[in-house]
Amino acid sequence: MARKKNSSLIATKVLPFDKYELYNKAVQSPEDDVQFYLECYKEIRKGKKPITLREDFCGGGAISCEWVKLDKAHKSSGIDLDPEPMDYGRKNYISKLNDDQQSRIALIKKDVLSGGLPTADLAVAVNFSYFLFKKREILKKYFDNVYQSLNHKGLFILDIFGGSQCYDAIEDKTKHKDFTYYWDQQSYDPLTNEAYFEIHFRYKNKKYENVFSYDWRMWSIPELKELLIEVGFQDAKVYWEGSNRQGGGNGVFKQTDKGESCLSWIAYIVGIK
Ligand SMILES: C[S@@+](CC[C@H](N)C(=O)[O-])C[C@H]1O[C@@H](n2cnc3c(N)ncnc32)[C@H](O)[C@@H]1O
Repeated sequence: MARKKNSSLIATKVLPFDKYELYNKAVQSPEDDVQFYLECYKEIRKGKKPITLREDFCGGGAISCEWVKLDKAHKSSGIDLDPEPMDYGRKNYISKLNDDQQSRIALIKKDVLSGGLPTADLAVAVNFSYFLFKKREILKKYFDNVYQSLNHKGLFILDIFGGSQCYDAIEDKTKHKDFTYYWDQQSYDPLTNEAYFEIHFRYKNKKYENVFSYDWRMWSIPELKELLIEVGFQDAKVYWEGSNRQGGGNGVFKQTDKGESCLSWIAYIVGIK
């Protein structure tokens, strides 16, 4: 599966490439992401436009940067525990914004499980980062924090992946111009739904193993919808990806009440305050 993946970073190794640059090229598509968030908000809120976006688990804050580029009124904040990717983002992404855009973005070192998250019209948690919360009560605490932080008519957008292939120990590889990206599904335990994944890169004919690793619980769409409703969201809608002619995802997500069984899928869940 997987065009988009990520989560907790492993110890910094001396690598002959910029791991965040390769990660960004391999798994992120922030320009498309912000366009989807905007359209989704306008669809659900009948044409009303969101102004403030908060990117939880922001890493380098690539989405926060694209949000302030999209409209002169937009403001964004990115939240992460780890200063390393945020410093990378300040140096490599935020520094490339103009002064006005820079004045409308802030990356903040904070635990999303702590209270007082910055208020927003849109909160997003993508690339499945919340999968690192394995206990229901902990994930519920995070969702409650998000609910409390959202403005009136706010939305919470999170992505999720699944499909029968996610339970197999397989390595998926994608060739890019200067490197190869590997998504390695090492283990899955049906008793706990916990799974362990690694990202490797091949660069200049050498494979660098375990550049990023992910120790996750595979949550399901109904579990997440139930939790969103439990913390107070009025509704939770699912946006399912359409297919291309080869049977892969086409990058177009539409709201639906019925999915389809497939080897690998990605969807968005939208919590409506
Ligand atoms: C690999 S990243 C995701 C980066 C980015 N969102 C993306 O799409 O690629 C997951 C991030 O979650 C952060 N993180 C983990 N637990 C967190 C928590 N409790 N509060 C805030 N950030 C957390 C990690 O430091 C890490 O940067």
